[in-house]
Amino acid sequence: MENNLLKGKKGIISGALDANSIAWKVAERAYEQGAQIILTNAPIAMRMGEIKKLADKIKAEIIPADATSVDDLNNLFSKSQEILGGKIDFLLHSIGMSPNIRKGLAYTDLNYEYYLKSVDISAISLHKMLSVAIKQDALNEWGSVVTLSYIAAQRVFPFYGDMAEAKAMLESIVRSFGYHYGKAKKVRINSISQSPTKTTAGSGIKGFEDFFSYAEKLSPLGNASAESCADYCITLFSDLTRMVTMQNLYHDGGYSTTGVSTDLMNR
Ligand SMILES: NC(=O)c1ccc[n+]([C@@H]2O[C@H](COP(=O)([O-])OP(=O)(O)OC[C@H]3O[C@@H](n4cnc5c(N)ncnc54)[C@H](O)[C@@H]3O)[C@@H](O)[C@H]2O)c1
Repeated sequence: MENNLLKGKKGIISGALDANSIAWKVAERAYEQGAQIILTNAPIAMRMGEIKKLADKIKAEIIPADATSVDDLNNLFSKSQEILGGKIDFLLHSIGMSPNIRKGLAYTDLNYEYYLKSVDISAISLHKMLSVAIKQDALNEWGSVVTLSYIAAQRVFPFYGDMAEAKAMLESIVRSFGYHYGKAKKVRINSISQSPTKTTAGSGIKGFEDFFSYAEKLSPLGNASAESCADYCITLFSDLTRMVTMQNLYHDGGYSTTGVSTDLMNR
């Protein structure tokens, strides 16, 4: 599928940890569509070395950055512009982590240090990226920013722990910063609320496999894959969606508006 939707565009893609990552698929698609890309991830993720394979494949440079560190982000945006030879047209924020979930702590008994970390890594990091970008004037007019969310921002999914609050906050930052960046530079900012997807972050959630198959049966189209999520991201980075901003866009095969399915009733 090569139609050069992103020809001549320059982008920063965060969060590609391994070949299952949603960001990995987005980077591959963006490259296929003609974009020039900088990859970034937390320094600790570099140690796995997987990202280097992706970088070689898509001819991208890697700039390590902890998305909670404003210094790292300043370096990321200035170096990216240097390497790419100009301002950035699109940014993917594909970052999430909850130490409370990692340690298996119950929602009613959270560790509050961890809670702050969950929110800092999974939500405030978007604000930090955008704040650095706007101060450096690093994004081109009509640039596009996409982040990834989950429907636990709106409804209770007991296994999703403190990530529910992180996603609710993330979606709020999308709206608030979307207003300010839209007014200032016509930059658009949206979140994609994605189906459960088999990645490191997704599979780290207790009961993920069972829930994955439940969601698959409820959604009329089935769960949306990481590949189809990447396709959706490309449309949002392209010039074909210039007036879409400050939205939380469900990409879930119809899950969010289905009450019950015959597949589930029959079980
Ligand atoms: N997998 C799912 O079921 C699902 C569903 C909806 C939304 N999402 C969201 O999609 C996004 C991407 O997750 P994924 O499923 O591709 O899993 P993933 O584990 O492949 O990606 C998560 C990424 O976050 C990065 N990260 C963690 N801490 C960081 C930090 N301090 N600085 C910079 N990067 C950091 C990790 O290194 C990793 O690359 C997340 O926001 C996740 O919540 C996932």
